[in-house]
Amino acid sequence: MKTAVYPGSFDPITNGHFDIICRAAKLADKLIVAPLINYSKKHFFSLNERCEYIKILTKNMPNIIVEPFDGLLVDFARRKKIGIIIRGLRTVTDFEYEFQMALANRNLAPGIETIFISASLKYLYVSSGMTKEIAKLGGNISEMVPSEIKDFVFDKLNKNKK
Ligand code: PNS
Repeated sequence: MKTAVYPGSFDPITNGHFDIICRAAKLADKLIVAPLINYSKKHFFSLNERCEYIKILTKNMPNIIVEPFDGLLVDFARRKKIGIIIRGLRTVTDFEYEFQMALANRNLAPGIETIFISASLKYLYVSSGMTKEIAKLGGNISEMVPSEIKDFVFDKLNKNKK
């Protein structure tokens, strides 16, 4: 059985992330979408919210589970017997960071492969950061986040402008 993990902050999940989830789910028998519990990085959405949004979107996708992790990704992968790390790639800027991370993970755990999935053209510009900025300023984020969670995301960002 091929198990893959798609780790990330998902703060919040965007259409770009969801597109990668749908495509990655076809490559693996089981896909674990794993929001990071990061004590050093400040997330706007709580871990519970980030997980719930992903669960809403993937509820009819039987080979996907949502499971947060902390610590090293490769340690989580080893514990869960995961052989594949999935990451999405949008731009050259992404590439530098992603390539470095893939090399570091490969060095730590040579048996675990990172597979990059290129973002779909229509989501190349979409990021969690830009979604948050646009929503906080009252802009329309319907092209950036899935419709099922758009109102939750927009409301929370507008109530808690920082
Ligand atoms: O969505 P993000 O913030 O770009 O995701 C980054 C993530 C969560 C994949 C990365 O920060 C990560 O794997 N963190 C866990 C700690 C770790 O394993 N670090 C070593 C590899 S850089």
